[in-house]
Amino acid sequence: MPKIERKWLYLVFAILVIAIIAYLGYNVYQQQTYPTITSIKNKGILVVGTSADFPPFEYVNQSGAIVGLDIDIASEIAKELGVKLVVKDLSFDVLISALQGKQVDLVIAGMTITPERSKVVDFSVPYYNASQAVISLSTQKFLSINDLKNKKVGVQTGTTGESWAEANLVNTSIISNSNLLHYDKLSDALLALKRGDIDAIIIDEPVARMFVRTVSGVQYDFGIYTGEQYGIAVNKDSKDLLNLVNSVVNNMKTNGQLDTLIQKWFGSG
Ligand code: ARG
Repeated sequence: MPKIERKWLYLVFAILVIAIIAYLGYNVYQQQTYPTITSIKNKGILVVGTSADFPPFEYVNQSGAIVGLDIDIASEIAKELGVKLVVKDLSFDVLISALQGKQVDLVIAGMTITPERSKVVDFSVPYYNASQAVISLSTQKFLSINDLKNKKVGVQTGTTGESWAEANLVNTSIISNSNLLHYDKLSDALLALKRGDIDAIIIDEPVARMFVRTVSGVQYDFGIYTGEQYGIAVNKDSKDLLNLVNSVVNNMKTNGQLDTLIQKWFGSG
């Protein structure tokens, strides 16, 4: 073989070896970085991110444990994976970045499936339908959006309720921008309401109904139909996990377990 040709052969061979090493390396990197089923099983825990201020989906009970409908769904997913469930309580606003940053494997937080969020994370099939509602102190009743004119309104940062209030109260000049107050935790918004710092809170309707049952002096004013659906957020790189989550949720829907849990957490009261 002439010398020049052998040189080319070596070059092609070297490129091939480098390509194979790069490919293998990338695969290992992906397995280590992304919360795939294998990596979750390997670490033996499923880390779920939530904002435990949203009863009955997730809240801290009297014994200091994070419980709720979402936590029960998370337990079913952990059971299916054969691993222990670990729940991380974060501000709602940071949940998606915690998921992207791989600090959590899943987000279950009564999170509405929206087109903007779907650009950065994947959502499971929906498991609950919701809308928004207004709550206030029992001393002041609001019947419609116009009753909120120039009132101070509280919302949770990063929520669909916040976007709704910006679009329908601030941008329509019903309230000024400074009269819309943003809270990281709903519990802080409730405290602000009790103190009289704000006149009303806009939150998801099922949670509003739960608050007025459990927090004294607070009433349900009116509902705002927004037609939202809750989904479990999964990293875009974790399609196998997404499939597993979907099959767990679909099973819970068809075998009646989800309805039983909804009954358990909402009760009849
Ligand atoms: N459904 C609303 C949203 O997705 C509010 C969710 C708030 N969840 C919570 N755990 N605080 O924006």
